[in-house]
Amino acid sequence: MPPESRITNHESRATDIRSALGHAIAHLELEHTPSAALAAELLLMHALGCDRTRIYSHPEQELDAAARERYFSLVAQRASGVPTQHLTGHQEFWGLEFEVTPDVLIPRPETEHVIEVALQRLGVESGGATPRRNANLRFADVGTGSGCIAVALAKEFPAARIVVTDISAAALDLARRNAARHDVADRIDFIECNLLDEFHDSRTTTPESRALDLIASNPPYIGLHESATLPREVRDHEPHMALFGGETGTEMYAPLIAQAAMLLKPGGILVMELGHNSAEHVSRLLTTPEWTDVALTNDLAGITRVASARRSVS
Ligand SMILES: C[S@@+](CC[C@H](N)C(=O)[O-])C[C@H]1O[C@@H](n2cnc3c(N)ncnc32)[C@H](O)[C@@H]1O
Repeated sequence: MPPESRITNHESRATDIRSALGHAIAHLELEHTPSAALAAELLLMHALGCDRTRIYSHPEQELDAAARERYFSLVAQRASGVPTQHLTGHQEFWGLEFEVTPDVLIPRPETEHVIEVALQRLGVESGGATPRRNANLRFADVGTGSGCIAVALAKEFPAARIVVTDISAAALDLARRNAARHDVADRIDFIECNLLDEFHDSRTTTPESRALDLIASNPPYIGLHESATLPREVRDHEPHMALFGGETGTEMYAPLIAQAAMLLKPGGILVMELGHNSAEHVSRLLTTPEWTDVALTNDLAGITRVASARRSVS
């Protein structure tokens, strides 16, 4: 038995749901685990295969020894820094459930702003029935990871075709599984390449070949110099190729914006998530005749989170 799956004397006395939850929260708080109560709840739901309602409607329910062992093993792993999502194997994004593994970035709530901005810039309300929503649009998602952006867009635009890229073959495998899970895999092309290189190379770059209506991306944007400041669950458990954009963290934006200028239709939209220090750098890159209607959007915490722009018609 691995050491982390051994349960303490205290924990072995936690025989019902209420006391197990209490012990788990205390253990996680002792190890300074962020959002300890939420993690304890999610792991208990996972260990018991039940929903939150059952936990709170039957707190007196007894847990057998196997369930306790399962639960406190998960709690010990979380306390040692393993992200909750790696233990439960999933994360919600845009109201959809995504499989998550250590091969991909765990989808973040702030990335939902990328989808919101894409919808706004394409003139569509979420879930609304506008003709544009059902048009045969063509999108790209660069650095797709779990596939969360592409799948959310595919759900919002039922007739759109989407090309997704990633340099990680393992990430693309997972993105494929997530697309299949949500019945949109037949409208998505998965390409293993740097940024949009492969897609770009397969086309000439004449005005007629600019075929995309939207390019969305949440590129790696953390600077290598910031590595030591990251929480251990991020630095030690999420793929470095998903986190680090280079020494400063802003290195991906210039080549991405240059390719987007070649591949978007005139009037097409570019939407990119921003790192905490990249807004000025990215705004400057978009101050060229190829781009109009440049906008920066803040997240709920007031941090500039998304840059978007329209490809000029000329
Ligand atoms: C920040 S993660 C975003 C993942 C996902 N789109 C999301 O929002 O959760 C960046 C992704 O870009 C991929 N990536 C890193 N460098 C890349 C490159 N040069 N070309 C294509 N993909 C890249 C990583 O493997 C990772 O999956």
